[in-house]
Amino acid sequence: MKKFPGILVFVLFFNFLVKADEGMWLVQMLGDKVYSDMVKKGLKLSKEQLYSINNNSIKDAIVLFGGGCTAEMVSKEGLVFTNHHCGYDAIASASSVEHNHLQNGFWAKTKGEEIACAGLSVQFLIKIEDVTTKVNESLKNYKTSDMASKLGGILNEMSAKAAEGTGFEVRIGSFFKGNQFLQFTYQRFKDVRLVGTPPESIGKFGGDTDNWEWPRHTGDFSVFRVYSTADGKPADYSAENVPYKPKYVLPVSIKGIKDGDYAMIYGYPGSTNRYETSYGVKLKVDIDNPSLVNLRDARLKCMMAEMIKDPAVKIQLASYYAGIANYWKFFDGEAKQLVKLNVVDLKQKDEAAFEAWAKGKAEYDNLFADVKKTYDNWRPYAKHRMYLYEGILGSPLMAFAASLKSYDVALSNASAKPEDITKLAQNVKSAHARFLKGENTPSDKNILAAVLKMFYTDIDADQRPQTFYTTLKNNYGALESNDTYQKYSSYVFDNTMLLNKDKFEAFMAKPDTAILHKDAAYKTAVAFTDNFNSNYSKYYADFTGTNYVLNNKYLKGVLEMQKDKPMYPDANQTMRVNYGNVKSYAPKDGVKYSYICTLNGIKEKYKPGDYEFDAPVKLMELIDKKDYGQYADKSANDVVVTFITTNDITGGNSGSPVLNAKGELIGLCFDGNYEALGHKIAFDKDLTRTICLDVRYMLFVIDKLGGASNIINELNLIK
Ligand code: ARG
Repeated sequence: MKKFPGILVFVLFFNFLVKADEGMWLVQMLGDKVYSDMVKKGLKLSKEQLYSINNNSIKDAIVLFGGGCTAEMVSKEGLVFTNHHCGYDAIASASSVEHNHLQNGFWAKTKGEEIACAGLSVQFLIKIEDVTTKVNESLKNYKTSDMASKLGGILNEMSAKAAEGTGFEVRIGSFFKGNQFLQFTYQRFKDVRLVGTPPESIGKFGGDTDNWEWPRHTGDFSVFRVYSTADGKPADYSAENVPYKPKYVLPVSIKGIKDGDYAMIYGYPGSTNRYETSYGVKLKVDIDNPSLVNLRDARLKCMMAEMIKDPAVKIQLASYYAGIANYWKFFDGEAKQLVKLNVVDLKQKDEAAFEAWAKGKAEYDNLFADVKKTYDNWRPYAKHRMYLYEGILGSPLMAFAASLKSYDVALSNASAKPEDITKLAQNVKSAHARFLKGENTPSDKNILAAVLKMFYTDIDADQRPQTFYTTLKNNYGALESNDTYQKYSSYVFDNTMLLNKDKFEAFMAKPDTAILHKDAAYKTAVAFTDNFNSNYSKYYADFTGTNYVLNNKYLKGVLEMQKDKPMYPDANQTMRVNYGNVKSYAPKDGVKYSYICTLNGIKEKYKPGDYEFDAPVKLMELIDKKDYGQYADKSANDVVVTFITTNDITGGNSGSPVLNAKGELIGLCFDGNYEALGHKIAFDKDLTRTICLDVRYMLFVIDKLGGASNIINELNLIK
């Protein structure tokens, strides 16, 4: 067959182009092409209403919530909505066996009943500046191979300088793999209080079975309030503080949605890697993801065994467990979908297209041959690294023990500055308090036994810490037997001061490295970390350093090659906007999924007493009575619990507002669908869906189940 070169080029370049509703756009840099596409899809707002430097706009209602979620201001009195799984840690911390808000839900009927949440904060974005030239000036002083390792320090230093004396926080983000640097200024509010949460049986209905899946019936929301000083400034918790008056408040529409409606999402997506190379995808699929999943699987089982026995342990481990389980399922699904969707092939096509374009441009010579070499050099050690970080250090005791290494080194270093040692000691003490609060010995003991054996079984014999396993065999028995590891783990837990508050405090009062070196937990942890750090971490440093330089170059080329096309940078926990439509999908041949789920589906899934599919009796009564109030969907003749859209989101977008064409809140996005779990690496234009909580279900629960009409009354409801 004769090939037409023009068409060939088009086909080759195709994967690079932004498709359908792909794109996490920096809202302050929306190009005209993207904005007019938004309008074409249905948007009824001006660019100024989306983001404005001079006037209050939607972006002022959006906050970075806690360490990695999004939330939005919905009342003039500082009320914010976010996901239940984003408030989960705060809800669990506010719970006890006697006052089990996690299990029973909680609704503050007055401001006085709200619960302060130590450590929880929200951040408003104040401004953004391009600092690419400044960063490049500093980077120029370093060899190319050192740039990756120096970059973090340079950015931190510049941020600290920019923030000095302003009362704001500054963070500089790297975009397009170091081809652009933007400086973000934030204002952080630290007095955030819990106002309301449904019981976990609503907020996490369906548990890990339904997590990352559609159809879905999870009421994934919680309600908080931001407080400030009387003049609107951030402050630590104080009874004197007053509800914060936000610059912009989202109206809440209960008019409902239909298939095809415009949907727009603002938020803080954490990370994507859409320009990952085929070599990176292969490493993920073959080694990184399966290792992580295997190890997390073992750890989760050990925890669950204790959590189901004791409600106090359930509360203690709930948030930690949920975090590990969430990405255990994600990474498993991600690897499977990357294979199913032939993403390695797609990437290879992109790479071939790039090479065709780069032909004759000396700068890009051998780019992918070098990438290949970089991956080949690292691949033999990749599993070892995962087994260290997700395995051995997946035991909380081992993780805390290993963290003492830098203190140990400083204590043994005659020229270490006393003020540095004091600072390290303070960090160790607070880390120890956190560790003890979260530590559940029975599960951790089983985790340690399990991961020590997995490390032995799965890691190349010549990479293992030899002395450790030889001694283990000599003193505890055959390395193939579970019993050996159980016995050894018991020995470690019985012979460490790290689990004992008084003993550890005594050590910190008079730190003696000889005592630390004899500690069974410390000895075990450093046997593995020292082995890795002395023998293999250099390969990892080479790998990440070289990869940084190669990726930087690759993206520089891609930007040049595509200079007339709108391009969006990978997610990096900076504010983005994306847009799409409410839309059903076909997950596989012969199956079509509806764009909504309703209360009827809760009834279908309901299993009284089940760990994941139980639901409050009162909810089931409301469903039976069809007592929907103003929250019913007329055409569904039911309450819509969730809906799906074609928006491009990822972890970090949790809690993000889903807005209609007029910028009114119609839902909270809380998940992605299983069929598109390769989305961090490759956006699939047919299969990718964002799973959103319908705001009407949320208000139905607050009002009818929680009786918290005080919350409803604060909202600007559009009926
Ligand atoms: N997959 C959701 C996300 O990452 C979190 C869902 C939490 N629920 C759960 N059952 N683990 O945003």
